[in-house]
Amino acid sequence: MSDSDFDPEDIEKGRKLFTQECSFVLGVASLEGLPPEKYPEIVFAGRSNVGKSSLINALTFRKSLARTSRTPGRTQQLNFFELAKTFYLVDLPGYGYAKASKKEIKSWTDLMGKYLRGRSVLRRVYILIDGRHGLKSTDREFMADLDKQAVSYQIILTKCDKQTQQSLKELEKAILTELKTNPASHPSIISTSVHKNMGLEDLRAEIAKLVD
Ligand code: GTP
Ligand code: MG
Repeated sequence: MSDSDFDPEDIEKGRKLFTQECSFVLGVASLEGLPPEKYPEIVFAGRSNVGKSSLINALTFRKSLARTSRTPGRTQQLNFFELAKTFYLVDLPGYGYAKASKKEIKSWTDLMGKYLRGRSVLRRVYILIDGRHGLKSTDREFMADLDKQAVSYQIILTKCDKQTQQSLKELEKAILTELKTNPASHPSIISTSVHKNMGLEDLRAEIAKLVD
């Protein structure tokens, strides 16, 4: 986003929030392992390799808070990060990872589904979409599940340093048109790049509002 939707005060609040203490709390591989509903929770979901961990690192000004890799499918549990003793950021396992076994995929999908359905502290699910590729069938399936469960979500485009302004605009427009039929979707898109520090200030400002 080139024109910010937030005033300088909001941007500063967001920056301040994210410069405070943050730490990895735990990785959860089964429902019983979920932490108590202590804080508001903001979730990052998306296909494997879309840039979830990179975005969490960039938002928190850390290089390696969340593990990033060139090997897709490395994050195979729900990872909880505590920020500013105020809220949790949750990094979900990437969906659509071709090399995982059917059994593995089913167990992650079940865990994510149960978590997202039953969590009253959930403030928003951000669905990350690779800005070079747009929506894929696995994204649409995930969005349809959230629509059914009335879990509110918003699209974030990642890796927006990889394409021209023109193609980015066209992609944003096409996705916004498609979202009109997704009742639980938030009708705006945040375009980001961790390399160009694009969209990050706005995203911090928005999250600061959501967890306030
Ligand atoms: P899984 O945990 O495996 O599902 O992946 P992930 O969604 O956490 O992706 P990750 O953050 O590990 O990033 C995957 C690859 O994309 C890495 O090689 C990153 O360097 C690259 N990447 C992430 N964000 C950006 C970006 O804004 N621009 C560019 N050009 N590359 C990015
Ligand atoms: Mg990851």
